[in-house]
Amino acid sequence: MTRYEGNRGRGAFPEDWDRGDARALVPSHEAQVQELTAIDAAFAALYDRAARGLAAAADLEDLQQRAVIVSGRERGVLTALLEELPDLPLEDRRLRGGAYNRAKRWLAQVEEARRAQLERAAEGAAGLDVTVPGRRPWVGHRHPLAIVRDELLDLFHGLGYSVYSSPEVETDEYNFTKLNFPPDHPARDAHDTCWVSERVLLRTHTSPGWVRAMEQRRPPLRLVFPGRVYRAEQVDASHMDQFHQMDGLFVDRRVSMADLKATLHTFARAILGPEVKTRLIPIYFPFVEPGCQLDVACAICGGTGRSADGKAPCPVCKGAGFSELLGAGMVHPNVFRAVGYDPEEFTGFAFGMGLERIAMARFGVPEIRLFLENDQRFLRQF
Ligand code: DAH
Repeated sequence: MTRYEGNRGRGAFPEDWDRGDARALVPSHEAQVQELTAIDAAFAALYDRAARGLAAAADLEDLQQRAVIVSGRERGVLTALLEELPDLPLEDRRLRGGAYNRAKRWLAQVEEARRAQLERAAEGAAGLDVTVPGRRPWVGHRHPLAIVRDELLDLFHGLGYSVYSSPEVETDEYNFTKLNFPPDHPARDAHDTCWVSERVLLRTHTSPGWVRAMEQRRPPLRLVFPGRVYRAEQVDASHMDQFHQMDGLFVDRRVSMADLKATLHTFARAILGPEVKTRLIPIYFPFVEPGCQLDVACAICGGTGRSADGKAPCPVCKGAGFSELLGAGMVHPNVFRAVGYDPEEFTGFAFGMGLERIAMARFGVPEIRLFLENDQRFLRQF
């Protein structure tokens, strides 16, 4: 049998390159060397050197270079041997060809094992510090208006009220006529309505909800009507063209103004704190008689009506010292007539509040536009 005679100077192994432990990488290494030794001891020694050389790779780049030395296309040690094959006698060719192919496959396994080992080591070195605090997931929370709305719903639920939802797009009949606004009443203009068509509009208040509820139900009624309303307003620090209201309605026999006052009192203290300064003054609304307005001392100027430096009127209450918190009153008999209730039999009170106003008073927010701008710096504070 022709013996291995070295690779004739092509693709020789560098000195000292075979310091690796191939056995530790591939447990069958020893058996493989023996198998090759039975065929050709010199070739087996070459194989062993190649394997230990791959196992000695210092890093992934080194491993890549060593793999080229072993089986690179041009100068690889193994490649050079394969080129000798055609010159060998047939029987040698079969025997050695098989040995070369196995050696090549085994060396690929050694290379792969060393690569995995180096990659694991690199991961370890990159350092997984398990004591570093995790990144807190970004959690949202309720909008300040939703906080106020939910608190109000909670309060009124405790007083026996349930929620009634009614449309944001209304007819003028429900928004005005049935609420006792005569056709050419100036209050219709005062509302600065956004009209959709001649008879259809975006509701200017949540009061139309009472009419719809009373048309469907008989007293006793205890309802709240939360929702969004629209006005063609000049936007400034305390006015928006869309905002939120919540009306309330209580209808039964012998309901009095004293019941209304007690309810408003409970409401103001629950929402704005037991020390809150309020005042109740008479005012006109077409759908109540008598009508009143509950004011709260301005949260920004504290009731002085002046700006922080005292030089200008307070930008929020415009010098009034008080802000209007809600309108209220005893339901007008004409509204009862419009829904088919007998005003001699039933009485009731109603109230309607702006949620933005309440949130401003509650949280000391000086600017109504902040509620709709979705600026995270503002919203995160609640
Ligand atoms: N709807 C009125 C408005 O938006 C507010 C209001 C006043 C509601 C008196 C009421 C009420 O329920 O009784 O200006």
